[in-house]
Amino acid sequence: PAPGWARAADVIVVGSGVAGLTAALRCAASGLRTVVVTKARLDDGSTRWAQGGIAAALGEGDSPEQHLDDTLVAGAGLCDEQAVRTLVTEGPDAVRRLIETGADFDKADGGAIALTREGGHHRRRIAHAGGDATGAEISRALVEAVRARGIETIENALVLDLLTDADGHAAGVTLHVMGEGQHDGVGAVHARAVVLATGGMGQVFSATTNPPVSTGDGVALALRAGAEVSDLEFVQFHPTVLFLGPDAEGQQPLVSEAVRGEGAHLVDADGVRFMVGQHELAELAPRDIVAKGITRRMQELGAEHMYLDARHFGADMWASRFPTILAACRAHGIDPVTQPIPVAPAAHYASGGVRTDRHGRTTVPGLYACGEVACTGVHGANRLASNSLLEGLVYAERIAADIGRDTPASRVPAPLPQAEPPAHPLLPSEAGLTIQRIMTRGAGVLRSADSLKAAAEQLDAVHAAARDALAEHGKTAEPGTDSWEATNLLCVARVLVAAALRREETRGCHWREDHADRDDTDWRRHLVVRLRPDRT
Ligand code: SIN
Repeated sequence: PAPGWARAADVIVVGSGVAGLTAALRCAASGLRTVVVTKARLDDGSTRWAQGGIAAALGEGDSPEQHLDDTLVAGAGLCDEQAVRTLVTEGPDAVRRLIETGADFDKADGGAIALTREGGHHRRRIAHAGGDATGAEISRALVEAVRARGIETIENALVLDLLTDADGHAAGVTLHVMGEGQHDGVGAVHARAVVLATGGMGQVFSATTNPPVSTGDGVALALRAGAEVSDLEFVQFHPTVLFLGPDAEGQQPLVSEAVRGEGAHLVDADGVRFMVGQHELAELAPRDIVAKGITRRMQELGAEHMYLDARHFGADMWASRFPTILAACRAHGIDPVTQPIPVAPAAHYASGGVRTDRHGRTTVPGLYACGEVACTGVHGANRLASNSLLEGLVYAERIAADIGRDTPASRVPAPLPQAEPPAHPLLPSEAGLTIQRIMTRGAGVLRSADSLKAAAEQLDAVHAAARDALAEHGKTAEPGTDSWEATNLLCVARVLVAAALRREETRGCHWREDHADRDDTDWRRHLVVRLRPDRT
């Protein structure tokens, strides 16, 4: 679509979670004209939903080295050790700067930051806020700081495509904005650096902890722009999501790992603690192991869910430590003070994404990525719990430093691009639901060559139908948020399925029924994808 309006800045940040707003604040602080664009409202992304907390070696007796060890173990042989080392050594100070920015973390008696445990951590190192409302507090503090600083923001702005200059350097983005007065319709923000911080793609599956905005827009944009994307097959399924019925779709309430960190037990319908004996950390094993343990037990018993039993916390602890989860459970008719909570795994986090170096640079010059949209190498085949907020913080700061250091101020913004038909057919909005169901059946927590091939064929059929409609009627679906989101979902789903089919082993959160073992001879490597322009 042809842009109808244009703005110029030094840096455009796409997305407004912990990564995007941290990048924006740090860029603005070094004098760069910064514009934040976000698909819904400033606080509508995944950050606000984070419960458990943010991991950092802040406690007595803990160290970045121990945090590194736990992260590498969870990542199942595919972490980039240098990227992890950067994360864990710069993490504690980044958290302190977040506190200076205004985030208020829970304190222990004596005034130090209170720390809890989560799966895969051998230490108490998870800082939390409001009991189980850590993301909401971080989001509040960052949004307030961005507003106080007067950083320009454009809400309801769906990012479409990257603009590049004659040298192939990022030069801005096109946007579809709805209801923002002077910015209504398709427009462009020209900038000499573009920071993608668009979050994840959980909505590619039917049931997910992610909010509705998590539709893989940043990864799809990067693929269309020719950037490299890596590790998309590693989708993390959170083990304990409130079970609302076998057909529940869309965002589902999370029951934080911190509930297990404080001593809750996973049990089956007979009250048997089935994780005991499966791993030295039992319920606090890394997330992939717990998700597999639950799924296996569900299969053995023909059950639709397992239970998380934390009745022994008592009413006071539930109300003070986990008020958000308590309210969510009660809203669905479960009282965790007197009843075990029905739980099952659901899609939670994309460990892969747009490939970056340790400065957040993608393979397209001037295009950066941080937060869930990025693949910095810190998560490997399975992210360690509560490392994501930390990654967003640390790598956003590194990006701001790199932009401040490296980008020539003299770079001339690209001219407005000519009106061009979309390079690929836009899907009708209802295709989103079809894609989610295909992905849940074929590429969910348990995968096989058969299930993945079936998913690939069905996704190809969705694509072919849109292409044929374009050929027959000469136009695609009406452009709008829903049709762009469905189109982006299809783009990332096809790459995810292709990678999952190719990786013939079980590693981290990628679980192949037909290749049950980890294969360090052939598969201790990454699958990196760069689309040909005609494949988008
Ligand atoms: C949780 O609170 O269990 C989520 C933490 C995470 O995803 O890192």
